[in-house]
Amino acid sequence: MKICILPGDGIGPEIVAQALRVLEALDLRFEMEEALLGGCAVDATGDPFPEATQRLALAADAVLLGAVGGPKWDVLPRALRPERGLLGIRKLLGLFANLRPAVLYPELANASTLKPEVVSGLDLLIVRELTGDIYFGQPRGIEKRELDGVEQRVGVNTMIYSESEIRRIGRVAFEAAKKRRRKLCSVDKINVLETTQLWRDVMNELSPDYPEVELSHLLVDNAAMQLVRAPKQFDVLVTGNMFGDILSDEASMLTGSIGMLPSASLDETGKGLYEPCHGSAPDIAGKSLANPLATILSAAMMLRHTFVLEEAAQRVENAVKSVLRQGLRTSDIYQPGTTRVGTEQMGDAVLAAL
Ligand code: IPM
Ligand code: MG
Repeated sequence: MKICILPGDGIGPEIVAQALRVLEALDLRFEMEEALLGGCAVDATGDPFPEATQRLALAADAVLLGAVGGPKWDVLPRALRPERGLLGIRKLLGLFANLRPAVLYPELANASTLKPEVVSGLDLLIVRELTGDIYFGQPRGIEKRELDGVEQRVGVNTMIYSESEIRRIGRVAFEAAKKRRRKLCSVDKINVLETTQLWRDVMNELSPDYPEVELSHLLVDNAAMQLVRAPKQFDVLVTGNMFGDILSDEASMLTGSIGMLPSASLDETGKGLYEPCHGSAPDIAGKSLANPLATILSAAMMLRHTFVLEEAAQRVENAVKSVLRQGLRTSDIYQPGTTRVGTEQMGDAVLAAL
């Protein structure tokens, strides 16, 4: 069980350190090796996704990632930015299936900006396609063209999906729904975009293979609205790379804190990259303010999806629930009447609960 550890930038190293303590406490004989991805890799090697990291990531069974990026590197040319490292590792490892659960823990019902009755008991899963769509489509770029009778700069990106790409993410979503409340909602924009008409057609074609799952469809603008109007109507949502990027940030906020949400990005064989949904938060880095729970929960997803250690995964998740019940909170989820703790103290508490 080889794990490639990529702490990354900003708060990445602090939160990954806490997740590693939890993994080590499970005493499961993981082989772990650390490497550079993102801004720290740019600083050390000039490349956000250096070859040594590529080799290690390819050889590992799973990758645990903190977060990448920060204003320091935003001035660099596009190809050298930390985000390029993230897109690069997703593509290189073929991590097409991004699972982003949004679960509201009862103790945090008041942390949401939505009314508690709208969000309490929320438990939905966004299945986002991660290696296609406008993120990777060609042609792309900024070029000079004659348009509207003038030679000017035009920006070009291409939204493109093949039916095989849609089918494989569709199968992941139907399978996930089968194990949950058996409701799948596919999100598209068929009133405008042909790519997404194909998306809906392929989802409909898959549906007879999963008679136990109820398939529905929503246009993305309506889906965005429904997510804040009545989010509990959803069980599993499946959508393309760009819509999934946007809707998963929206869904995360229903739960009150993006600091609580893990994610998994899987290939066809169960190999995966696991990372918290939040970013590198450079403004709070090194201040012991970061919430390590999303990374700890990402490690639990790794136990479940790559190593098929369901019991260990649940042990970790139960430990997290237990510290919340004890009233321990990092600053991002702090409320009067609870106990404010730092990053490492939160790790201590999860270990104690384990
Ligand atoms: C995410 C992020 C990335 C994405 C960025 C950092 C490239 O927003 O994982 O959701 O757009 O996929
Ligand atoms: Mg995003």
